[in-house]
Amino acid sequence: MNQRDKKLAPILLVEDDQSLSALIVDELEAEGFTLQATDSLAQARQQLEQLQPSLVITDLRLPDGHGMQLVEQIMKLDESKRPSIIVITAFGSVRQAVEALQAGADDFLTKPLDLDHFLLSVTKVLEHRRVRHELSAFRQLSKKEHSFHGMTGSSRVMRHLFDQIRVVARAQGPVLINGESGTGKELVARAVHAESDRKEGPFLAVNCAGIPSELLESEFFGHAAGSFTGAQKARKGLLQEAEGGSLLLDEIGEMPLALQAKLLRALQDGSVRPVGQDKEVHVDVRIIAATHRDLKQKVVEGSFREDFYYRLETFAIQIPPLRDREDDLELLAQQFVRQHGVAQGRDIQGFNAEALALIRGYAFPGNVRELQNVVERAVAFCESDWIEPRHLPTRLLDSTPVQTSNLESSEPTIQENRLLEGNRLPTLDELQKRYVQMVLDEVQGNKRRAAALLGIGRRTLYRWLDQP
Ligand SMILES: Nc1ncnc2c1ncn2[C@@H]1O[C@H](COP(=O)(O)OP(=O)(O)OP(=O)(O)O)[C@@H](O)[C@H]1O
Ligand SMILES: [Mg+2]
Repeated sequence: MNQRDKKLAPILLVEDDQSLSALIVDELEAEGFTLQATDSLAQARQQLEQLQPSLVITDLRLPDGHGMQLVEQIMKLDESKRPSIIVITAFGSVRQAVEALQAGADDFLTKPLDLDHFLLSVTKVLEHRRVRHELSAFRQLSKKEHSFHGMTGSSRVMRHLFDQIRVVARAQGPVLINGESGTGKELVARAVHAESDRKEGPFLAVNCAGIPSELLESEFFGHAAGSFTGAQKARKGLLQEAEGGSLLLDEIGEMPLALQAKLLRALQDGSVRPVGQDKEVHVDVRIIAATHRDLKQKVVEGSFREDFYYRLETFAIQIPPLRDREDDLELLAQQFVRQHGVAQGRDIQGFNAEALALIRGYAFPGNVRELQNVVERAVAFCESDWIEPRHLPTRLLDSTPVQTSNLESSEPTIQENRLLEGNRLPTLDELQKRYVQMVLDEVQGNKRRAAALLGIGRRTLYRWLDQP
């Protein structure tokens, strides 16, 4: 901890034994800490507000109350404002110390105070706090970097896709989204809508493969009352329903040719004519079409209209398959572990090295959806803290795994929120190591970025990594 941190972090000392209090003040000031000493619970409560200390060191037996009351008050504070706590107890009152730890204190010391031990505890608790804060700030930051309208991705291809969506969203013409099954076409369509100035308007999605062909026309354009059997009441079509917003035509490749012609006309005229009605109705809708098919090929085959195709692909977005987003695979896998863990009420930490190697070695023809299903199933099967190969479907075990350097170790590799473990305070070395590893994981092993985030030089990082 450097001098600046010590100055920024006032410590509140609550101790009614004047000689002990003086000793602690001397000792900590000599180490460069700023601190404020009080000798009663009432004063301590006041100081807590005024001083906003980073650490409270409190005796348990106080003239006007009990230190636990202070601990309880502190624990009610917002996490960002909550100081760390060290309690000092009379020798032998282990039960009280345990109670204090359970209530949220970070460490306890017994009287008579061993000064070396005391200093070490203060440094460790404050360092611990700093790391926790940096980590949560880093999480915020990385969350922003990795997420765009519910889409996770930090790979170059995905960042490019996010940029493309922003540009396309600002324009007006139709959008054609192409991508293999499960790559996130619907998410992209929603993002285009959400980024556009139509975002306050409706977003509707229709699966063109899911509507019986005889109902298609009325579904899209609506119908007048009594226009055909079963149409007692007039009904608005999807184009009218989506007025002022966006309409996703999913699986556009399955749309019959006749309807393609009608839709193209509607797009060009900006108006629709409901079935059985003479009058045209003006519509203002942005069409977003999506397909996993090669529409150009369909044009060549004659099953898709060329003019419609060219109208739709005014703005074309191609979503890369998951196998081309190597950098995102772990990020997504980890996110799904968390999501399905919460959904299934489980606290699973991630994948062990072998399981991760299998995930990395598999091509995921079903893309993100398949990965999500694989993880959901693994979470359900996993009875321990870490997902292992036996929790994965056999198709992953059968595919040839890629070589990774740490295959032989079964050490967990995805660290998730595990800097602080159990009731034991980790040593600074352990903490540093885990933190560095975690940052490295977050930036996919990019040492230059990791060093920048850690605020150290690249050489220092290499030195740390070389340490046993
Ligand atoms: N980048 C991503 N980040 C997080 N979740 C994603 C991402 N891409 C896709 N998903 C999730 O994967 C699943 C499939 O996405 P989506 O339905 O958008 O794919 P699709 O391309 O429309 O698939 P299909 O061709 O089968 O209709 C959804 O549950 C979606 O939330
Ligand atoms: Mg879809």
